[in-house]
Amino acid sequence: MSKNSKTPKAETIRGNLLHWWDTGRRDLPWRRTKDPYAVWVSEIMLQQTRIDTVIPYYHRFLGRLPTVEALARAKIDTVLKLWEGLGYYSRARNLHKAAGLIIRQYGGRFPRDAGELQKLPGIGRYTAGAIASIAFGQPAPLVDGNVIRVLSRIYCLREDPTRSAVQKRIWQLAEELLCAKRPGDLNQSMMELGALVCKPINPDCSNCPVKRHCLALKQNLQNDLPR
Ligand code: ADE
Repeated sequence: MSKNSKTPKAETIRGNLLHWWDTGRRDLPWRRTKDPYAVWVSEIMLQQTRIDTVIPYYHRFLGRLPTVEALARAKIDTVLKLWEGLGYYSRARNLHKAAGLIIRQYGGRFPRDAGELQKLPGIGRYTAGAIASIAFGQPAPLVDGNVIRVLSRIYCLREDPTRSAVQKRIWQLAEELLCAKRPGDLNQSMMELGALVCKPINPDCSNCPVKRHCLALKQNLQNDLPR
């Protein structure tokens, strides 16, 4: 793609997104830490639950179980009790199981590599990318619903993003956008842009940091993408 002069320039988009992240992001509790355990807990909670709901649960969970050792030692009933009200309890069971494995198989040290992280229960490609990039600064891409929307619009991807070939393309674009410098911030900036600006309905394009590079906007297709 980079051979085509009409293709948005990764470097410019990256710079715009990072500048916007530095100035426009919300101050959320899990953004004040690079502790892989805290990042992991927050990402698992955020998977199926709204931010407003997650915040008190996040504080309570980390207050009671502040480390992966504490989580591994805790009884499953304690973990489930802390999860009560969040739903999707398999998330809590997997957290507990994975904490045990981190202690027993990894000597209590979080794997730093996205591929290694994905061997743990409950950690898929998205969560592995989040932990590796945010906590360890690894250039690991991540794709969630927000990232699919942002990239579908910037690159004007007209095909159905549930198709596996399109998914593959989106992961590839997410990877191409990353650089060695601030992968965690860049990943989060795309999710944040999707949440605040590049919204599913009525995206706020006039306030978008990458509006000059958005191929969907150029063709007034922002409301029709992703398919
Ligand atoms: N949604 C879930 N995790 C997020 C993160 N780390 N940054 C922005 N949005 C998110």
